[in-house]
Amino acid sequence: MSIKAQMIAGAILVALILTVVSNMVGDLLVPRPKPVAVAEAPAEQAASEPAASGQAAPQQAAQAEPEPPMPALLAAAKPEEGKTVAKKCASCHTFDPGAPNRVGPNLADMVGADIAAKPGYAYSEALTAKPGNWSYENLDAFLTKPAGFAPGTKMTFAGVPAAADRAALIAYMRSLTANPPPLPR
Ligand code: HEC
Repeated sequence: MSIKAQMIAGAILVALILTVVSNMVGDLLVPRPKPVAVAEAPAEQAASEPAASGQAAPQQAAQAEPEPPMPALLAAAKPEEGKTVAKKCASCHTFDPGAPNRVGPNLADMVGADIAAKPGYAYSEALTAKPGNWSYENLDAFLTKPAGFAPGTKMTFAGVPAAADRAALIAYMRSLTANPPPLPR
């Protein structure tokens, strides 16, 4: 090997070493994004897999928190919080005893009262045809989805989706009822 060839070989060697070393230093200074991507991929797969294979049950259980049963919610419900929820109803209903009917009937003394029985209010047939009274169960069902409980009702209101909100609302209506039935157990 001539000196010139040696120098060239040496230069190549140095270049190689520099490349390797600078790569290593670069890795030390800047963490490679690759491990993150590798770590994310299986997690994504794991998340989408149950849905894809029809085994969505564990995921659903994690998402939709099971709500406590209505009697437990009612026992813990605060009428003052129900008063806030009742703002949703105020465009159509009054709540105070003796207040007039509006678009909907006055809602005082409603818990335990016969369905569709407020004097001076023109109910729909959907509601007058309903037997029974406004038990806690019936109120809860009606307020969850009025049109589901009484198809054809003229109460054009989607419902109160959260069970705790309904419980608070019913507790508020109970506080405005002179002789309410005992809370369910
Ligand atoms: C858009 C107007 C509207 C809103 C908002 C509304 N209601 Fe009504 N509500 C009505 C009407 C109208 C009726 C009568 C329904 C019928 O005759 O079919 C009614 C009937 C009722 C009844 C039955 C009363 C009885 O004498 O049998 C209850 C209980 C009731 N509403 C509670 C509520 C509550 C609680 C809210 C709020 C979460 C609410 N409503 C929101 C219009 C409304």
